[in-house]
Amino acid sequence: MRRASVAAVLLLVVACGHDRGPTSPTTNPPPVTEPDPLRAAAGAAGKLVGTAVQSSLLNDPRYGGVFARHFDFVTAEYEMKWDPIERTRGAEDFSGGDAIVAYAAARGMQVKGHALVWHQAVPSWVNGLPAADLRTELDRHIRSVASHYRGRVLAWDVVNEAIDDNGFGLRDSIFRQKLGDRYIADAFRSAREADPQALLFYNDYSGEGLGGKSDAIYELVRSLLAQGVPIDGVGLQMHVRAGAPPPESSVAANMRRLAALGLRVNISEMDVRVGDLGGATPANLERQRSVYRSLVGVCVAEPACHAVTFWGFTDAHTWITSTFGPDAPLLFDAQYAPKPAFFGVLDALARR
Ligand code: XIL
Repeated sequence: MRRASVAAVLLLVVACGHDRGPTSPTTNPPPVTEPDPLRAAAGAAGKLVGTAVQSSLLNDPRYGGVFARHFDFVTAEYEMKWDPIERTRGAEDFSGGDAIVAYAAARGMQVKGHALVWHQAVPSWVNGLPAADLRTELDRHIRSVASHYRGRVLAWDVVNEAIDDNGFGLRDSIFRQKLGDRYIADAFRSAREADPQALLFYNDYSGEGLGGKSDAIYELVRSLLAQGVPIDGVGLQMHVRAGAPPPESSVAANMRRLAALGLRVNISEMDVRVGDLGGATPANLERQRSVYRSLVGVCVAEPACHAVTFWGFTDAHTWITSTFGPDAPLLFDAQYAPKPAFFGVLDALARR
């Protein structure tokens, strides 16, 4: 790659010199060199590298171009959640997720389904259901969606964010209120029946390093395994701030203890905020690069960590700005140019 681009520059200089005489560097813009694909480096390390996407953007040539070049794993950012699939009771619409799955299949990418049971993106008609109906409808939803994508997804986030941030008990969602704690085990069992091949994950945030929340996640999945519930792994979302990332050694230790239960792990929704540090200054982008490099490096070094997924790839499209305010948390800037963060990830995947 590097040698090829040097050759290209030489060729350009020689060609221009021949045609138009000596030229100054200002009249010859530097050739655009594409960085090495992330997916090649990830593949060499035995990992998948993924991103969340929105189907409506796939036909934008810049968005599609960067996505297809760099990633071999994809998650629907929104379109495989319950609300977009079944805004009207009984009328399922899989068009968004189907478009993403078809795009991925045509390019040799794997797909992560996200998310069958989550307290957000729940259709409004679900909220008023009596307990018995909620049990029936949730189970039907899990089986219907997992069956629809059977054979086309590598993995599912079956239950997302079920642990509360205060006290780290189970979140007081409508699922827990009306169905009791067993809704989690039931969800995994139904997902396994509907798609016996897919890897089934529990996914959550703020439990990346050791601490109260990750202890609660560990205890939850340990007890599911002890009950014989089919669960294959834990997703660590990794929505972090460049100024306060979880320590590398702590994330490594947490991954290790989950792996020791026989589970896989992945980094499932990574982004690194710089907004509260003052935005995308060169110094902050350098801090961001080093956080990406260090935490992706933890997955690269952990055999049980099979994938790293970023929650988008261009700062032009990130949930962070609508949720937390102006920011630049991803690997490519809003013009799709690779940022220092991109090269931090590339270095981590290439074990540099
Ligand atoms: C967010 C998406 O980015 C938004 O586009 C959507 O409207 C709401 O959900 N944790 C998760 C993700 O598991 O599903 C969330 O994604 C971000 C936090």
